[in-house]
Amino acid sequence: MKVLIVGSGGREHVIAWKVSKSSKVDKIYCAPGNAGISQIAECVNIGAMEFDKLVAFAKEKEIDLTIIGMDDPLVGGVVDEFEKAGLRVFGPRKNAAILEGSKAFSKDLMKKYNIPTASYETFNSPEEASKYLETSKYPIVLKADGLALGKGVLICNTKEEALEGVKELMLDKKFGSSGDTIVVEEFMTGREVSVLSFVDGKNIKIMTSAQDHKRAMDGDKGLNTGGMGTFSPSPFYTAEVDEFCKKYVYQATVDAMAKEGREFKGVIFFGLMLTSEGPKVLEYNARFGDPEAQVVLPRMKNDIIDVFNACVDGTLDKIDLQFEDNAAVCVVLASEGYPVKYEKGLEISGLDKFEGSDEYFAFHAGTKLQDGKFVTNGGRVLGITAKGKDLVTARKNAYEATKWVEFDNKYMRNDIGKAIDEA
Ligand code: AMP
Ligand code: GLY
Repeated sequence: MKVLIVGSGGREHVIAWKVSKSSKVDKIYCAPGNAGISQIAECVNIGAMEFDKLVAFAKEKEIDLTIIGMDDPLVGGVVDEFEKAGLRVFGPRKNAAILEGSKAFSKDLMKKYNIPTASYETFNSPEEASKYLETSKYPIVLKADGLALGKGVLICNTKEEALEGVKELMLDKKFGSSGDTIVVEEFMTGREVSVLSFVDGKNIKIMTSAQDHKRAMDGDKGLNTGGMGTFSPSPFYTAEVDEFCKKYVYQATVDAMAKEGREFKGVIFFGLMLTSEGPKVLEYNARFGDPEAQVVLPRMKNDIIDVFNACVDGTLDKIDLQFEDNAAVCVVLASEGYPVKYEKGLEISGLDKFEGSDEYFAFHAGTKLQDGKFVTNGGRVLGITAKGKDLVTARKNAYEATKWVEFDNKYMRNDIGKAIDEA
């Protein structure tokens, strides 16, 4: 069969790699892809938001299954466009992708169906938000309702910071219309865990857990980023946490969406915080996490095409989802200055060492080919991922592999997986 993957980051690279392992697949296309993906798939120069062109391409090439990796096209309704054209596609429709696309929607859903989450208020007017903040407890959390490249969440320690935050989001419109509505949320403390799942509209299958490192610098300092590294499984995701979430969070979310007439098919990413009162949902995403996917999918035993098909067909209950009894760690190699300002076009060396390995991976995030050479083309450049028999070994392997790769201004966190030692 022929598969099209939509997206251009490390997530789409690991999806393409996993798809390439399926015996059912003869040909993989990726739009627009990146230099790493072009080694295993044919990249086509169509942007992820060019729905008409994507649909026309899928028709012309008789694509059997399209997999949407990114949030923007999902929230924008790309799946509806594929379905209208009679094409088979993996991902939630627009009316379900709202689970990620609107924080106000997801908070209201959790409240209505008693899914544990932080208490909150929603505001459409900066005056009312500011009035509320006069008498709030601090710290407090402000969230832009819509998509904001993972940067629409402000943790405010004082009233002054919060009022400034309201100005940034609602008046200065730092994230455009995403800040027209904001959610003001109770500040929670605890460990964070990312749990990805496959959903077929009715059934849900949980993948192995992972933990992200969102801040740019060691010790969780610096600005929020798309993610600087991950490990899987999370030792803090205990059997007790799993049992609690199976009872109160996972199926409850799928059922809630179905009851609302918003049947969800695709990947639900549960961002959980393990608080002293039990696990609570920080956020939902409607797609694989990045770089979470880079440590989760290499550990997955199933043929991923079988799982994608089961989600589309509503037969996920027939799938026995299995993961290897090992661990994986991903260390992101970024360009110095990320997430603010950084140089592009710097030559990358050492990537040949990863070729053909199923233990060490260099998943490309921001790269391109220039005169036959790999060069940097983004803030997050590569996700260096390694497996190991346990987390400590996987971490050692991943950091060892970061030394194989060189480019000017190479930057990484040196404490990815530090939490492992505290488990
Ligand atoms: P989100 O995009 O909602 O996952 O938020 C990004 C990050 O902000 C999360 O990974 C948390 O570290 C932090 N965060 C979000 N909501 C809260 C909250 N209610 N309390 C404390 N931290 C939060
Ligand atoms: N790594 C977090 C995300 O994909 O949103």
